[in-house]
Amino acid sequence: MTPDKPAQAPGFSTRAIHHGYDPYEGHGALCPPLYLSSTYTFPTVADGMARFAGEQPGYVYSRVGNPTTHLLEERLANLEGGEAALVTASGQGATTSLLWTLLAPGNELIADKTLYGCTFAFFHHGLERFGVQVRHLDLTDPANLAAAISPQTKMVFFETPANPNMRLVDIAAIAAIARGHGALTVVDNTYCTPYLQRPLELGADFVVHSATKYLGGHGDLLAGAIVGPKAALDEVRYVGIKDMTGAVLSSQDAFLILRGLKTLALRMDRHSLNAIQVANFLEAHPAVAVVHYPGLASFPQRDLACRQMGQPGGMVAFELKGGFEAGRRFMDALRLFTRAVSLGDAESLAQHPASMTHAVYSLEERAAHFISEGLVRLSVGLEDGRDLLADLEQALAGL
Ligand SMILES: Cc1ncc(COP(=O)(O)O)c(C=O)c1O
Repeated sequence: MTPDKPAQAPGFSTRAIHHGYDPYEGHGALCPPLYLSSTYTFPTVADGMARFAGEQPGYVYSRVGNPTTHLLEERLANLEGGEAALVTASGQGATTSLLWTLLAPGNELIADKTLYGCTFAFFHHGLERFGVQVRHLDLTDPANLAAAISPQTKMVFFETPANPNMRLVDIAAIAAIARGHGALTVVDNTYCTPYLQRPLELGADFVVHSATKYLGGHGDLLAGAIVGPKAALDEVRYVGIKDMTGAVLSSQDAFLILRGLKTLALRMDRHSLNAIQVANFLEAHPAVAVVHYPGLASFPQRDLACRQMGQPGGMVAFELKGGFEAGRRFMDALRLFTRAVSLGDAESLAQHPASMTHAVYSLEERAAHFISEGLVRLSVGLEDGRDLLADLEQALAGL
């Protein structure tokens, strides 16, 4: 670099590896230290008072802050392009802490028709009983929101791509409508991670994550994250987490996620590369009725995918012509893909919503949420693509 040239802004991977940590402030240790301490000491009562009053920087108790989790928060906020971040004990802890802090009795929450099952359950078991009204709309068409939003609507919540059927929601269009009516937009960005999609740059107010998935990336921890404006996240930290949910992330898990982030871009590139091969293979197979994958030319929301996603990602959903029974037989025949829920791990995972995550829904409820009986969801892992295709081929051959 010549001295008169302005410094180039560091790229995504550089920030995922370095942001917020200077080894020379940590005894030169290459890896950020793992702080295992539940509480922090004060040199004097005056210092303690100042810290409790928020007038002196520093830590008090790990339910509200820890240096290792703090570094992870700084890094995630930077990668998502947000002002601040807050990490939590699970993705469920992120959503519950945020929504319980921001919503009040009498508010309306509008959510898409397809949601991760426990998010759906929280809305109906956890929010409705405290007087928040929940309405499900098909948010893949922003006109549905424009027609239904009211002065009571405090928040619009959706996933894109949605779990498990890969429906996309136009983040910029929905956020513009919500903002125009004074409502907040919350996007669950678990499937994409900030490497593939940054909802805040498209107008969303908050992003939530299950960091259990791609951010951690190795299937060895549970974690969540919220990214958004600092003032609101301070409220979530000091009320939502401290007083209401207590969904605090352990510093060991924060340490592991910091390690996972170092390879996030590499992993997402490989997940996408493998998933494209899988989607192409499935689309050509006679036992498969339809493949839902944003990287396919046949994907009905392909234009939107190109606008808001950097790459199509590692999640593929497809529907078997033989319905429920074909789904069951296909799953049992898999040898390399592992029958398991969760996603975003190095291992390729397969789940059949009608017999697994959505088995408690009635047939009619599954249809209403766009989950067909033969739908299979694949989290395409980091193995060699040809081995994944061989496994799918032998499992489909038995149908
Ligand atoms: C899209 C999505 N959001 C949120 C969650 C909840 O995350 P966690 O299991 O970390 O609580 C999940 C879990 O599968 C998910 O798939």
